[in-house]
Amino acid sequence: MQILLDTANINQIKSVLPYFPIDGVTTNPSILAREAEDVNDTLRAIRELLGPDRMLFAQATAHDSAGIVAQAEKLTKELGPNFYTKIPVTMQGLRAVAMCKERGLKTLVTAIFTPMQALLAAKSGADYVAPYVDRLDNITSDGASVVGEIVNLYNEYGYETKVLAASFKNIQQVYNAASCGAHGVTVTAPLCEKLIFHPYTDRSLEDFDIDWRSRFGEKGIDQLLK
Ligand code: E4P
Repeated sequence: MQILLDTANINQIKSVLPYFPIDGVTTNPSILAREAEDVNDTLRAIRELLGPDRMLFAQATAHDSAGIVAQAEKLTKELGPNFYTKIPVTMQGLRAVAMCKERGLKTLVTAIFTPMQALLAAKSGADYVAPYVDRLDNITSDGASVVGEIVNLYNEYGYETKVLAASFKNIQQVYNAASCGAHGVTVTAPLCEKLIFHPYTDRSLEDFDIDWRSRFGEKGIDQLLK
């Protein structure tokens, strides 16, 4: 399963990237409006941190298909390789996805709330779809179930489009989406750190340290090996 960071905060990306097996970074207009002093500098800095192989996602801000494709072309030229244009699931958006596919530009269809939207996105040629798990949960729907239904539909019809579940507010939501077969999840940096947190893990490590020190002092295991 792929794990991406859903942020444009450079410090937060730096604090997580060296430690976790991160596949890329996703942004959206709200994230960039909140985190980026300068969109050009921020996106280029993220690419620099990611290197050429990890994925970077940014959303087209145009609303018409020609405008979206023009933005996808420029963004991919400047921020590629492994750049994906996020395109909302609108009529113009679906048309833009098909046009991007013809031009070899990679896409993620975003703001997905129903399996039918995801099916149409896949048929239009999307590489990824992003169902919004927490926003679904907040309207008394079940985000993880929607993820699972999309995965089942893609398997049923043989689409290679990947499901990148998004909009998480807690670890249980991430786990549920993973259990339902999400190909990837995109999470904030603080949530990413919580993915491995468990108080009994911390307690166990403290106990190991206490036992070791009481017997061997400050010497490391390598120093005791002759
Ligand atoms: C990612 O594709 C989405 O833009 C993002 O995860 C939405 O998250 P939010 O619901 O926390 O704004």
